Amino acid sequence: MRFIDPPRLIAYLFFRSLVILSCVSVFGDKVESNSYILATGEDGAKALDLQQKFIAQGSYNLLQKAGLKAGMVVYDVGCGSGSMTVYLAQQVGPSGHVFAVDVSEEQLNVARLNVNEAGLTNVTFIQADAQKLDQLPIELADIVYFRYLLVHLLEPKVALENMYRRLKVGGKLAFQEPTWSTIHTNYPKEFLNQYRDSVIKLGAINGVNYNIGQSTPEMSWKLPNSFVENYELENKITLGQYKELAVIRLSEVGDKLISAGLITEETLLNWKKEIESVPVNEERYFVNLGNLTCVLVEKRKDD
Ligand SMILES: C[S@@+](CC[C@H](N)C(=O)[O-])C[C@H]1O[C@@H](n2cnc3c(N)ncnc32)[C@H](O)[C@@H]1O
Repeated sequence: MRFIDPPRLIAYLFFRSLVILSCVSVFGDKVESNSYILATGEDGAKALDLQQKFIAQGSYNLLQKAGLKAGMVVYDVGCGSGSMTVYLAQQVGPSGHVFAVDVSEEQLNVARLNVNEAGLTNVTFIQADAQKLDQLPIELADIVYFRYLLVHLLEPKVALENMYRRLKVGGKLAFQEPTWSTIHTNYPKEFLNQYRDSVIKLGAINGVNYNIGQSTPEMSWKLPNSFVENYELENKITLGQYKELAVIRLSEVGDKLISAGLITEETLLNWKKEIESVPVNEERYFVNLGNLTCVLVEKRKDD
């Protein structure tokens, strides 16, 4: 059995009670304040846009399998900086429509800019909680797409059910969720593994499951009248490519790991030095950004 020293235990209990308090508003509703640990707005877009370069092709392939085509109505839920919104809007064309949904107005502002820059006029932006999507007065979808969304939610099952309800009969959920315990590298230094393990622990403290990807096929089969297909996607890049993303991620979550008592300031400084010492052209080592479980769920008939 492992014993936690008293100062760490006190820091942990204090942080945990703050999390619980801030997740319950004065009305007793759960809100999303602490479960999303990444930056939002322009700051958040840096990592999301960089990550998009590495994982975009896998997302396009999934959407092609889902039958994405001109004229469709598609939702992009938890659209973030809008990198997939632009692709979806281009694919459905002027006869189709995309509803880009995010709980954060700051994220929507960035997504709106990107969509405008791409000259697209077939997107409606909606600030809404994926866990309450069934209340939206908008048309039903041919495809509801989301990526790295359930992993940040306190009520992922509720969100999944709500998004499924937004489909036409014959429509599909197409989504990708990670299992972060699969993040690995052949780089012999330990800090990337330590970083992964402490982020997963922070998720557990905040009430979210950073390994949700592996459970999503089973969750999807429980949806009424569903037909599910799924496969795993590795996301291997070189350590040199990973460097910039890692630096940004450490600046987003480092302080939260310290506040939760999971690492010290000294550890964070050491990790930053380690990653900064990697040359950008380092190709001998790889990093798997974490497997994404890709899922297609067809709604075969109404409830
Ligand atoms: C990691 S980002 C992924 C963004 C985008 N899907 C991508 O793959 O680039 C997760 C997004 O989900 C949004 N989000 C978090 N909680 C949400 C909720 N309850 N309802 C809707 N969006 C939410 C965040 O604001 C953020 O933009």
